[in-house]
This record gives sequence, C-alpha cells and structure tokens, in this order.
Amino acid sequence: MLFLITAGPTREPIDPVRFISNRSSGKMGYAIAEAAIEAGHEVVLVSGPVCIAPPAGARVINVTTSDEMFEAVHSNLEGVEIAVLCAAVADFKPANYSPEKIKKERGLENIPLIPARDILASLGKLKKNFFLAGFAAETEMLAQNAQKKLREKNCDVIVGNDVSGMNTGMESDHNEVVLYFKDGEILALPREKKSGIAKKIVNIFVSRAK
Ligand code: PMT
Repeated sequence: MLFLITAGPTREPIDPVRFISNRSSGKMGYAIAEAAIEAGHEVVLVSGPVCIAPPAGARVINVTTSDEMFEAVHSNLEGVEIAVLCAAVADFKPANYSPEKIKKERGLENIPLIPARDILASLGKLKKNFFLAGFAAETEMLAQNAQKKLREKNCDVIVGNDVSGMNTGMESDHNEVVLYFKDGEILALPREKKSGIAKKIVNIFVSRAK
C-alpha cells in the first residue's frame, strides 16, 4: 500500500535567523515510515527539519514551514491509501516576516500570530478514498481532546499521545499511545520503543484500510 507520512516539527520564521517551533524530533513519524517500508509498503515521507537520517527506501520531501508542508502533502496525494499525520505542525505563525534581522536595540514587545493552515483538517474535508490517521499531542484530558480532534478533523483514527512527560512522547525513544477509532473502538498501546509502537500502528492501519 502507499503511505503518506508527515513527521517532525515545522518552523515559522520571524526573521532570517529566528523562528517559532516545537520539540518534535521526528522519531515517531520516521519509525512509522521505517515500519511501513519493512512491511513491504511504499512511503512518501514529508518531513520538517530533524536531525535523524531518513529510512532507506522512503521518498522524502523536506519542508520547513507549515505552508510548505501543506503544499507538499496536497501535491502528493495521488494514489495514497493511508495518510498518517504525525508531524507537530505549528498552530500559529507570525503575522509578519521581517526580511532583515530584527535588531535587539529596536526591541520586540510582542509577535502577532495568525493561525497556520490545518493540514489534517484539510484532508478530512476532502472527499477522500484513503485511510486518514491523525495524532493528538495532549498534556491533559487525553481521551476527550483526542476524540474531539477525531470528530472535528474527520479522521478514521486519532493516535492520542500524552506529551507531558520526558519518558514518552516528544524527543524520547519510547512512546505510549491510545488509538481512538471512528467506530468507537479504543486501543491502548503500552510504553515501548517507538519502533515497536510504529510496527503495531502500521499493522493496525493496514488491516483497517483494506
Ligand atoms: O517527533 P517526536 O519527538 O518523535 O514526537 C512525536 C510526537 C509527540 C510529535 C507525535 O507522536 C505526535 O503526537 N504528533 C502530533 C503533534 C501535534 O501537532 O499534535 P496536535 O494535537 O497539535 O495536532 C493534531 C493533529 O493535527 C496532528 O495529526 C497534526 O499533525 C495535525 N495538524 C496540527 C496543526 C496543523 N496546523 N496542521 C495539522 O495537520
């Protein structure tokens, strides 16, 4: 099957040297890409800036901003059977970009922000013929918040990920997630290496997408 996977953070520039971003390392998305390839699937990996090597065999599209990720995802939907949006895309971006480095002396009292485009929600609005999996990175009320995203972004499944600790979630080599399916099924995957979680996720998504 053909997977389209997003991974890593986005960077939303303020000026040529500064940006707004987050702690996503790309490890979870890259592990899913690797597991899909190991299982014999094809992978298009749309990646934000990360410091890990891409899995051999993936077609990697490197992007920086949420707008670039949005365009790369929508330009590569042809033939996609399973879309897994694991990237930690910015929710907000600076309203203005300064083409020159902002001088310290000038000061910067505040940075006006505007909403970034929501890639997952935009896929949920398409009359799609692929299995759509989103993630929900939460620090509180995991079930309620993940199920809200499942409904509002019209996904087939949301992978709920508690990101409040250091031993799972962002940056860690390990993770622990709960899958919330559209049909109401809930499946908890206990803590293990992201490679193990990824293998399980790939198997489950493939069987659900058929
Ligand atoms: O990269 P790692 O260090 O390995 O960490 C993995 C992870 C914690 C980043 C990953 O497992 C995870 O939870 N990814 C989702 C991060 C996120 O942005 O969650 P969210 O709840 O803010 O967004 C919900 C969903 O909407 C996600 O599928 C996200 O990709 C998508 N989204 C969000 C904002 C936006 N502008 N466009 C989107 O498509």
